Amino acid sequence: MLELKGITKRFGNVVANNNVSIKVEPGTIHAIVGENGAGKSTAMRIAYGFYKPDSGEIFFNGQKVEFSSPHDAIALGIGMVHQHFMLVENMTVTENIILGEETGSRFRLDVIKAENEITELSSRLRLNVNPKALIEDLSVGQQQRVELLKALYRKANFLILDEPTAVLTPQEVEEFFGILRRMRSEGKTVVIITHKLEEVLAISDNVTVMRDGCVVGNLKTAETNAQELARLIVGREVLLRVEKEDAKPKEVVLEVEGLFVQGKHGIAVNGVSFNVRAGEIVGIAGVEGNGQTELIEAIAGLMSVSNGKIKFKGSEINSLSVRERIELGIAHIPEDRQKRGLLLNFDLRENAILGVHHRKSISSNGLINKVAVENHTKEIIERFDVRPPNPLLPAKALSGGNQQKLVVGRELSMNPKLLLVAQPTRGVDIGAVEFIHRKLVEMRDSGTAILLVSAELEEVKSLADRLLVIRKGRIVGEVDPKSASVEQIGLMMTGGE
Ligand SMILES: Nc1ncnc2c1ncn2[C@@H]1O[C@H](COP(=O)(O)OP(=O)(O)OP(=O)(O)O)[C@@H](O)[C@H]1O
Ligand SMILES: [Mg+2]
Repeated sequence: MLELKGITKRFGNVVANNNVSIKVEPGTIHAIVGENGAGKSTAMRIAYGFYKPDSGEIFFNGQKVEFSSPHDAIALGIGMVHQHFMLVENMTVTENIILGEETGSRFRLDVIKAENEITELSSRLRLNVNPKALIEDLSVGQQQRVELLKALYRKANFLILDEPTAVLTPQEVEEFFGILRRMRSEGKTVVIITHKLEEVLAISDNVTVMRDGCVVGNLKTAETNAQELARLIVGREVLLRVEKEDAKPKEVVLEVEGLFVQGKHGIAVNGVSFNVRAGEIVGIAGVEGNGQTELIEAIAGLMSVSNGKIKFKGSEINSLSVRERIELGIAHIPEDRQKRGLLLNFDLRENAILGVHHRKSISSNGLINKVAVENHTKEIIERFDVRPPNPLLPAKALSGGNQQKLVVGRELSMNPKLLLVAQPTRGVDIGAVEFIHRKLVEMRDSGTAILLVSAELEEVKSLADRLLVIRKGRIVGEVDPKSASVEQIGLMMTGGE
């Protein structure tokens, strides 16, 4: 169906794809795995006509093709859902889906017709998307489905999905895989890029492994396993679980008392109370959109509190600014690294000092100390293995996982007393997951209080010392992450529905 033959693509000095050959059979689900920066997105963006290769050939249905833009690929029935969504926030689902296709004066008519079609498509695949909703009002999981609908609306029968599950909860992943299997049974072909080996094993027929711009393995999924894939991906053995001692919690660092936060659609946090002590990781498990984002953002100072108290080491901090909270020692790894975590057009140095640029170590008399910034950036790059290790690159030139490593590195290097973490390993490769998990446990053991939110139940369960379950803005229970089963927690998260 699709064949990339000897594709090479350079960005400046970086060889993103080095003589890459990948063959995708029709009617299959084909996984592509590999470390952050291995060249997965680049290869697939070439197949979609988004980038032109420097050399090499593309065959589609046996024909040699040359794409000058994604339009050419779309015309052949190729669709792609990108790693970072490309939706226009203040437009509706339908408007986004037909964007670029509309025919001027007939726009209104087209919208109504499209709305009906999208409703039909959405219900057939059980996607549950309201065509009239504004993008900015949707959760990332729903936005993901809009991107999928957009590709399907354009009649794609060859779909490229770049880390589609990174933003989905485990339940959503199940549903999503159901959709992919239904599409395969309709004869469609799917390429899926993912870092989650259990997903590769669960959904794919074949798998390609990339490392450092090269293809290092083509395997039949049925004939491989997680250990072998992990070894091929990072070139060494990887610990696929978290190792930690029991926590030795000390004084209370964070107290949340009867907290209410107003969200976009009514009350998001509805009377929440809990504590986090120094030296422990408190996890919050919940289906996305149940108030966990607003809870973390309120504590970080990004959203205002409508009632209740947030106390840091015994003093109320409700009215403190974000900067004042950072100065107290509160760090925040936000869930949306592109919106909240980075300035994409700024270079790595500027991103490395976001939030701390006014500190004495970084600037004096309003002047930034360039050498200090350079050293600080290099240290983060080195300790957190940000690749390519070039402080002068704009953040947008980093692959998704490397952007995440930069944000995590910046926040951890502040040596916070309280660390608020949302989705810390979203989109990072298995080697980096292992590394970030180890760092979080080290921070805990050195006395940091950590509040962790993750859509990955396995992740919160294995990292947290105490686990709170949130539903509809309320804490509905606390479980012992060691003894509670995933099913039991899942049931609490959904209210037994
Ligand atoms: N537009 C760009 N400008 C400069 N460099 C780029 C650009 N796009 C990608 N690169 C570089 O090419 C290499 C491959 O990046 P790519 O995004 O394909 O990796 P990936 O395998 O998708 O990684 P991830 O799992 O982190 O998404 C990286 O070193 C990246 O920094
Ligand atoms: Mg990528």
